Amino acid sequence: MGANHQNRLLEFYRENARALPWRARPGSNVPADPYRVWLSEVMLQQTTVATVTPRFSRFLEKWPQIEDLAAAPLEDLLAEWAGLGYYARARNLHACARAVVANGGFPQDEAGLRALPGIGAYTAAAIAAIAFERDSVPIDTNVERVVARLEGIEGPLAETRPKVHAAARALWPAGRAGDYAQAMMDLGATICRPKNPRCDVCPICEDCAAFASGDPEAIPARKAKKVRPERRGTAWWIEKDGAVWLVRRPGKGMLGGMAALPGTSWEDGAPNDIDAPHVRHVFTHFALTLAVERRASPPGGEGWWQPLSSLGDAGLPTLYAKAAALMTGQPVRA
Ligand code: ADE
Repeated sequence: MGANHQNRLLEFYRENARALPWRARPGSNVPADPYRVWLSEVMLQQTTVATVTPRFSRFLEKWPQIEDLAAAPLEDLLAEWAGLGYYARARNLHACARAVVANGGFPQDEAGLRALPGIGAYTAAAIAAIAFERDSVPIDTNVERVVARLEGIEGPLAETRPKVHAAARALWPAGRAGDYAQAMMDLGATICRPKNPRCDVCPICEDCAAFASGDPEAIPARKAKKVRPERRGTAWWIEKDGAVWLVRRPGKGMLGGMAALPGTSWEDGAPNDIDAPHVRHVFTHFALTLAVERRASPPGGEGWWQPLSSLGDAGLPTLYAKAAALMTGQPVRA
C-alpha cells in the first residue's frame, strides 16, 4: 500500500469531489471556513448529504456568521432544525456557537474542539483536518468500511474497530488529512458503498484486499439486526377559529425544546387501536404509534394558538408534522 494508493485517492478527489456548499475546492490554498465545516459536520452526523445540502444553505442564509447564530434565540434555531431529527444537536449547536464567540473563535486542535458542546472524537478530527489542516484522522462509519475492505479486516466492526482505526491512522497521509478525509467520504458514499460497491470504477481497487477476495461486500461482516421496541401514546388536536393549540416540549429528552401537539406520555407496548386515526414514526431506539384525538379545549399549562395557515412555520418535528397532516388533510412542512 502506501504513497501510491494515497496519491490515486487524492487525484480521484481532485477530479471528482462532490461540489458541496461547505467545501473549499480540493487542493485549494484557502482552507474551508471553520463555521461552515463545523455546521456541516454536525448536520451530517446523522443525516444524509442529500437532506443536509439544501438545509445547510438555508441555515447559512439565515445566520451567515457564527456571531449571528450565537445571538439567535434557541427557539429559532430549533424551528430551523425541524425535520432533521436528533434535536440535541441543535441545542448543542447553540451552546457551542455561544462558547466559540465568547472565546473569540474556534480552537484549532482536536482536544480544544472536543471540549465544546456536541463535538465528539469524529467531529473534532474532521474540523481540525478540514478547516485547520491538522494531521487529524476523522473516522466515521464510511471510513471504517473503506479501510476494513482495503486492508481485508474481516469480522463485524464491533469487534474489529480498534484494528480498523489503527490501520486508518497508518494510512492517512501527513499534510493532506483534510482532502484525504473528504476523498474517503466521497469514495465511501459513491463507490465503496455498503451494498453493491462499484469496484469497476474504484481508483484504488488494485490495492484492495476485499476486492481481491472476490466478495468485497462481505467486509465488514454485518451484525444481526435488533428488533426495535414499540411505544404508544396519544396526541390531542385542539382546533379553534382556524388555529391549533401547540406546546413546547421540555428542554431535555426526546424532541427536547421542540414545538409539539399536547398529549399523553409515551409508554412501552404495541399500539392499542390501530383503526383509530394515528401516525407512526420510527426513532432510533423505538417505533412510536401516536393516536391523534380531537379535543374541545386545551389542557392546563402553557401553549399557544398556531394559525393553521402558518402551521409550516411552527417548526414541528416530523412526528407532529405527520400528525398535523393527518388532521388537516394537507402536507405540513417539518
Ligand atoms: N459526511 C460527513 N462529513 C462529510 C463531508 N465533509 N463531506 C461529505 N460527506 C460527509
